[in-house]
Amino acid sequence: MKILVTGGAGFIGSAVVRLAVAKGHAVVNLDALTYAASLENVATVSNNTLYAFEHADIRDRSAIDTIFERHQPDAVMHLAAESHVDRSIDGPADFIETNVNGTFNMLEAARSYWIRCGSPDGFRFHHVSTDEVYGSLPADPQIRFTEATAYDPRSPYSASKAASDMLVRAWFETYGLPVVLTNCSNNYGPYHFPEKLVPVVILNAIAGKPIPVYGTGENVRDWLYVEDHAEALLLVLEKGRTGRSYNIGGGNERRNIDLVRTICAVLDRRRPKADGSYADQISFVADRPGHDARYAIDPGRIRDELGWRPSVTVEEGLERTVQWYLDNEAWWRPLQDRKGVGERMGIKA
Ligand SMILES: NC(=O)c1ccc[n+]([C@@H]2O[C@H](COP(=O)([O-])OP(=O)(O)OC[C@H]3O[C@@H](n4cnc5c(N)ncnc54)[C@H](O)[C@@H]3O)[C@@H](O)[C@H]2O)c1
Repeated sequence: MKILVTGGAGFIGSAVVRLAVAKGHAVVNLDALTYAASLENVATVSNNTLYAFEHADIRDRSAIDTIFERHQPDAVMHLAAESHVDRSIDGPADFIETNVNGTFNMLEAARSYWIRCGSPDGFRFHHVSTDEVYGSLPADPQIRFTEATAYDPRSPYSASKAASDMLVRAWFETYGLPVVLTNCSNNYGPYHFPEKLVPVVILNAIAGKPIPVYGTGENVRDWLYVEDHAEALLLVLEKGRTGRSYNIGGGNERRNIDLVRTICAVLDRRRPKADGSYADQISFVADRPGHDARYAIDPGRIRDELGWRPSVTVEEGLERTVQWYLDNEAWWRPLQDRKGVGERMGIKA
């Protein structure tokens, strides 16, 4: 299969690109190379004959049309997005333009290409979204997000992703475009951009800096190792029912403070400090406005219909992730100089 992957130079998109090429798919990576991108993320496949790169912006409809014509993909996996909640609080416009208008462009370009191809049933437009569209859950562990949970986005980021999901559903109902959607919980793993929680904790810890925890650290997230997510995405692309959405979660609910302490404990073993524990560097800072209390995924549909299960626990995934950051300073060090990285954002509201 030839897959057009948008956002393939980002964190999750690059995991999809690497896995898809490893499975023998041809991949066209379409990416605007924003601050969040790095072509180093796909360096292991960039010389592979199955791989092609297109530097393009999904806000540019004519560029997207040209790429569809040039590469004639069998499927689209749409991951390109602005993805950092704190940045969406300070500057929501980019999130509307890329996540909403950009997705609209992708849908229209895909629809027009699909019609020119004779509207094949086998074509797929896979829209990759987030569990944040469902809003915030109470503490009760019996209550989790299902595909039937009503949307209730509460940040500019999640609102823009919710809007894009609605467009994708409408293009299925109205035009019959063969779409699938996925809504995933928090990812972590190698190549995670150094402004997100897990790399911030690892990198601040080893730099001897305070490790910031928002509020009291009680917020709960359901953590998924990025390579398990990539496996799930390719499975949904190939086996998912059109017009359907699939929630993807790791079944690894953790309070932020517990996740941070686990990372510190891994570092204490793998790179012990001369004195004390990395946990001594934990520093509670002002909370994010509108910070969702809890996310938790019910993965019943993807498990029962498609047989997917995550392969690693969060403890195992964090061991691998911490070691990856310890081994790959040449990857993360230059990214720390990019605009805004290391600054506290999202508290102006
Ligand atoms: N990170 C998570 O935990 C998580 C969880 C669930 C869903 N998602 C979704 O998965 C997708 C990928 O997330 P990520 O964490 O890898 O994001 P990321 O920020 O690491 O990467 C986004 C990529 O999209 C590209 N991009 C941004 N704007 C673009 C534009 N206008 N045109 C073309 N390319 C553009 C960037 O250059 C970058 O390579 C997003 O749609 C996000 O909403 C992320």
